[in-house]
Amino acid sequence: MNDRVAPPAQSSPARERLWDRYRDEALADRLSSMPWNGALDTMLCHRSVRSYLDQPLAPGLLELIVAAAQSAPTTSNLQAWSVIAVQDKARKARLAGYAANQKHIHDAPLLLLFVADLARLHRISEERGYPGAGLSYIEAFIFGVADASFAAQNTVVAAESLGLGCCFIGAMRNQPQAVADELALPDESMVVFGMTIGYPDPAIATAVKPRLPQGVVLHHERYSPPQKADIAVYDERMADFRVEQEMRMIDWTEQMARRVKDEAALTGRHVLKQFLQDRGLILK
Ligand SMILES: Cc1cc2nc3c(=O)[nH]c(=O)nc-3n(C[C@H](O)[C@H](O)[C@H](O)COP(=O)(O)O)c2cc1C
Repeated sequence: MNDRVAPPAQSSPARERLWDRYRDEALADRLSSMPWNGALDTMLCHRSVRSYLDQPLAPGLLELIVAAAQSAPTTSNLQAWSVIAVQDKARKARLAGYAANQKHIHDAPLLLLFVADLARLHRISEERGYPGAGLSYIEAFIFGVADASFAAQNTVVAAESLGLGCCFIGAMRNQPQAVADELALPDESMVVFGMTIGYPDPAIATAVKPRLPQGVVLHHERYSPPQKADIAVYDERMADFRVEQEMRMIDWTEQMARRVKDEAALTGRHVLKQFLQDRGLILK
């Protein structure tokens, strides 16, 4: 792997992290004197880790990380999510088989499955004598997915702050019924995504992946469509990144356009609407 192009010598931690994230000298300069702290440093240093040491998490770390996950904001304090921790190698291997057999699922000592969990709320409602009919609407599905996502992202930040590495596994939705059966999930719940967690293998350096220019995602007052030139700049930055990482060359725009091009590009997930309805999710 080639070294990344280093930012200029007059660097502060803020400038260096911002440069890595955007590869934009002007932005890095402008924000380099802003307050900086450990939380920002952890978040801006994020990179998905796909190579792990064969070493279980130290005792107590899982529970500490879940405390951070449960500290995330949650819709109306509904806490409409659950997480299933899988460490059993055979179960992990079966789950990997349902998720494109990704190597890092086999290798990571811990696989977390984040569940949008409306089943618990339904049971609570029924025990109080209410029908829980509000749980059949798209609104409830959205808050279940959102709550699971907030918890998952807190998990990433907590794990990375402790020196662990993580990788989301959206491919856990490729065969959602098989995954639900393996985990004994009740109706009105589904795995939104998995996440591998473990100690990063120091022999495999993983770089910070640049993001879109901030002006593409940050709109002031009203939405403004992205400028083609800004996207082209990002294509160039990602091309540099791919060269440095010795990755197959393809434009970011081309790759993303292919990722959403048609039904086949969804790798089995085009059936999710039916799956959700069969499980009593998104009925109305
Ligand atoms: C919801 C979600 C699902 C993802 N699914 C996968 C996956 O199945 N396999 C994988 O290797 N990476 C997966 N990723 C990781 C993304 O590819 C990665 O976050 C993205 O390329 C940006 O890279 P970075 O995380 O290193 O900054 C997923 C990320 C998210 C947020």
